[in-house]
Amino acid sequence: MLEEILYSRGVEIPSGYPLSQLPVRESEATVLLCTPKYFDVSSAINPHMVDDQGRLNVVDRVLAQKQWDSLAGLLSDLGLHVEVIEGEPGLPDMVFAANQSFPFRRKTGELCVLQSVMRAPERRAEVEFYRAWYVDHGFEVVDFPVPQGASFEGMGDLLWHPSRRLLFAGVGPRTSRVVVEALPQALSMPVLALELMDPKFYHLDTALVPLDDERVLIHPPAFSADALSLLERIFPKFLIPPVEEAQRGFACNALCLPGKGVILDQSCPGTVNLLENAGFRTYVVDTSEFKKSGGSVFCLKMMLPMDEFGPAENPSE
Ligand code: ARG
Repeated sequence: MLEEILYSRGVEIPSGYPLSQLPVRESEATVLLCTPKYFDVSSAINPHMVDDQGRLNVVDRVLAQKQWDSLAGLLSDLGLHVEVIEGEPGLPDMVFAANQSFPFRRKTGELCVLQSVMRAPERRAEVEFYRAWYVDHGFEVVDFPVPQGASFEGMGDLLWHPSRRLLFAGVGPRTSRVVVEALPQALSMPVLALELMDPKFYHLDTALVPLDDERVLIHPPAFSADALSLLERIFPKFLIPPVEEAQRGFACNALCLPGKGVILDQSCPGTVNLLENAGFRTYVVDTSEFKKSGGSVFCLKMMLPMDEFGPAENPSE
């Protein structure tokens, strides 16, 4: 069984390691969204937020609201229970609900959450509003000190293996190595540290979508050689979208809902083909306004390990 430690290179994992030895993780039935009422692009904290001349992108808020409504409607039509936090004035990025926290269940079943420490000062105040929501909904806020000068951006940089208690952690522009080193102990889970190499792929969730036990949607140039060697040990098959779709269409910011399909931005026909040919059902949505801020489908939501009536059944261990 993989130990509850950090792995940084593929050779550290025995080849042919059977993932079936790791505890099962159930997929989530509830999703948390944040309304886009105050969404805007007001400072450039990633390279996608400006145009070719370096001017801040201009958001059409009416269109952003429509696109958000369509995404929320689709998630609900796909059978998820949708919880909503209200956006706050002065916090234009709060709509990106994947970033402020990392919720999880302990092996013993308790609902817990790690709070983020955002890299950009502009985003730091978002965390407290999410924290209040978690406390109201019975989550224990885990004491997870982030050293001075370091940062941690929640599910932007921490992705689940599709079916097991195993995590992939992005180390790079937004989440510091020192924080990732502390994760296996804080979560009691094995964690694979994946170094991000390209500022355009500033969160792990912009370059990687674990699809099932065999396959991952990935933009390989975003990763270091060690990171790729780790991923190869876990996923025998890489699905690689056209480069342009990964860079501009946020193809690898898709949301995979196990057993239901993959939701992605409408600007990625090559990726849709790739996924459909691999047997995945796809759903396309327009996230043009959110892409102007450097985010798409995956960034706009947080999957929660609880069901609509409260805590879900304990995952089978
Ligand atoms: N403008 C936001 C930022 O730079 C976008 C966040 C997108 N979220 C994500 N999980 N990739 O922080």
